[in-house]
Amino acid sequence: MTALPSLLLVGAGRMGSALLAGWREQGLTRAFVVDPSPQALALAAPNVSVLADVALLPADFMPEAVVLAVKPQMAAEMLPAYARFGPKAVFISIMAGKTVRGINHMLGGGCAIVRAMPNTPAAVRQGITVAFAAPQVSHSQRELSGRLLAAAGEVAWIEDEAMLDPVTAISGGGPAYVFLLTELLEQAGLDHGLPPDLASLMARQTVIGSAALLAASPEAPEALRVAVTSPGGTTAEALKLLRADDALPKIFKAAIQAATQRSRELSA
Ligand SMILES: NC(=O)c1ccc[n+]([C@@H]2O[C@H](COP(=O)([O-])OP(=O)(O)OC[C@H]3O[C@@H](n4cnc5c(N)ncnc54)[C@H](OP(=O)(O)O)[C@@H]3O)[C@@H](O)[C@H]2O)c1
Repeated sequence: MTALPSLLLVGAGRMGSALLAGWREQGLTRAFVVDPSPQALALAAPNVSVLADVALLPADFMPEAVVLAVKPQMAAEMLPAYARFGPKAVFISIMAGKTVRGINHMLGGGCAIVRAMPNTPAAVRQGITVAFAAPQVSHSQRELSGRLLAAAGEVAWIEDEAMLDPVTAISGGGPAYVFLLTELLEQAGLDHGLPPDLASLMARQTVIGSAALLAASPEAPEALRVAVTSPGGTTAEALKLLRADDALPKIFKAAIQAATQRSRELSA
């Protein structure tokens, strides 16, 4: 695989540092990281320089891609300083709720922008990132963006930016729903008097094992669920309750709708 071209990472917190770790494995030509936090200094390597401020970048540094991984509320204050990379670079933003139009405006206009929504399993390269490329993004810039985002796991493209709102609700927040399920399973174990260590182990390993089975099996989740559910058995009894009056599907649908709506509000 050819080494990645020159890159600029802005913000090296949880998401940014996970991406950088993946890029390192692919081979980096030259990368700069801008992040004022002292922890970011630990990311420095022979071909990775960490700077506390964009003003410290060498004047002749012209990256092929600028990855924006800071908190969305920082955008208005910090983006204008990156406008000078606009003529050459593709800007890849993972900032939740910041639209292509808004980012372009903050960068002074005319920029090639990819907007992407990853999720936290990116930390172990098992994430799913859904991305949208603005019309100004060239074929090669889209390819490079896909390669960079793949450092976080799977990448899928959408052609309608508005779809990033349900994406944010479903896969962006999705790990939280799975972790909540894990917590509820653990609590059920405790409620039934199981020792805390065992309740925790059972809940964690059930979720980990189910995910591994889903990954390894050619079968759909529905078929895997049916395989656990003998007619008239214990699991069937639990599922009957969970699905009575469509209770779980209804609450889940409403929850995703609420998160989608919140994403729309934050993007406005
Ligand atoms: N976590 C998720 O599940 C998730 C999912 C999808 C998308 N995202 C998006 O990913 C982005 C990053 O999230 P995160 O969880 O990685 O946040 P994070 O851990 O807080 O990382 C942000 C980093 O940016 C640094 N920073 C602050 N001001 C800066 C500046 N002016 N220039 C450069 N760096 C600066 C922060 O330093 P300090 O800590 O010193 O402030 C921090 O290290 C957010 O926009 C979020 O919406 C997150």
